[in-house]
Amino acid sequence: MLRASGLKKSYLSGDRRIEVLGGVDLAVMAGESVSIRGESGSGKSTLLSLLAGLDAPDEGLVEWEGAKAAADRRARYLGMVFQSFYLIPELDALGNVLMAARMLGAPGPAGRQRAAELLARVGLAERASHLPSQLSGGERQRVAVARALMNSPRLMLADEPTGNLDERTGDAVVELLLGLCRETGTALVLVTHNAAHAAKAGRALCLHGGRMQSGKTGAPVFPAPLLPSACREPHSPPCLPPRFAAAWPGSVPLASIMRASMRRSPAPS
Ligand SMILES: Nc1ncnc2c1ncn2[C@@H]1O[C@H](COP(=O)(O)OP(=O)(O)OP(=O)(O)O)[C@@H](O)[C@H]1O
Ligand SMILES: [Mg+2]
Repeated sequence: MLRASGLKKSYLSGDRRIEVLGGVDLAVMAGESVSIRGESGSGKSTLLSLLAGLDAPDEGLVEWEGAKAAADRRARYLGMVFQSFYLIPELDALGNVLMAARMLGAPGPAGRQRAAELLARVGLAERASHLPSQLSGGERQRVAVARALMNSPRLMLADEPTGNLDERTGDAVVELLLGLCRETGTALVLVTHNAAHAAKAGRALCLHGGRMQSGKTGAPVFPAPLLPSACREPHSPPCLPPRFAAAWPGSVPLASIMRASMRRSPAPS
């Protein structure tokens, strides 16, 4: 699904070169969730921008499903929650979520309905017509999560998606993202400073000294990919843990939103 090999990245700061990534390898399979922790400045956001194909590595290669990461596939393939959200200030919450669909064509009523459902799923049904400036930091972050889910991405890159959220809401957002992996086979890379959230991922890694290490042992990692649970138990129906299903009472279960979107044409229309 996602394979990064030998990623190196440095920045010029004045006449000084800052080495950020010194050869990072990472492979994430469909349905697999991987968390990445690391000190501030260790290069987590830099790595995600390389994995998203938004920036080029000095050395190394990023592949999505066996082909080089390319901008023309990004809107369909990738969902990204940026650390600083990057919402469009002139668009309300619904418009920001719909913007993802607009990258693939004009969203019609079905697209609008899906965007509204996703906003409800992140607890913002009552905020759909609010501009980002009228939203709290945590609400903006949840709009960014909904936008990243809009096109049913095969790969989700989330950069501290709970950084501005209270504990309960943060837990719910992480469950939402992990549920996405379980239910739809999306691969998830979750950057977080929250140890409890990191531990919920199928694999916990740590970026340190420009290298990827196992979150538990500190040893270098490039482990054999784990089979996602959906593959280990092919006959089990998708199942939402009660905590996930009850994250926002009255909200639409993610599974039903995703199933509905899969029945629709490729792009919400
Ligand atoms: N465009 C840039 N030009 C110069 N230096 C940069 C640039 N972007 C990032 N850096 C530097 O690269 C290093 C890694 O930054 P990055 O944002 O990837 O860290 P991070 O692990 O995401 O940190 P945080 O946990 O605070 O978000 C930092 O020292 C930062 O100052
Ligand atoms: Mg960062």
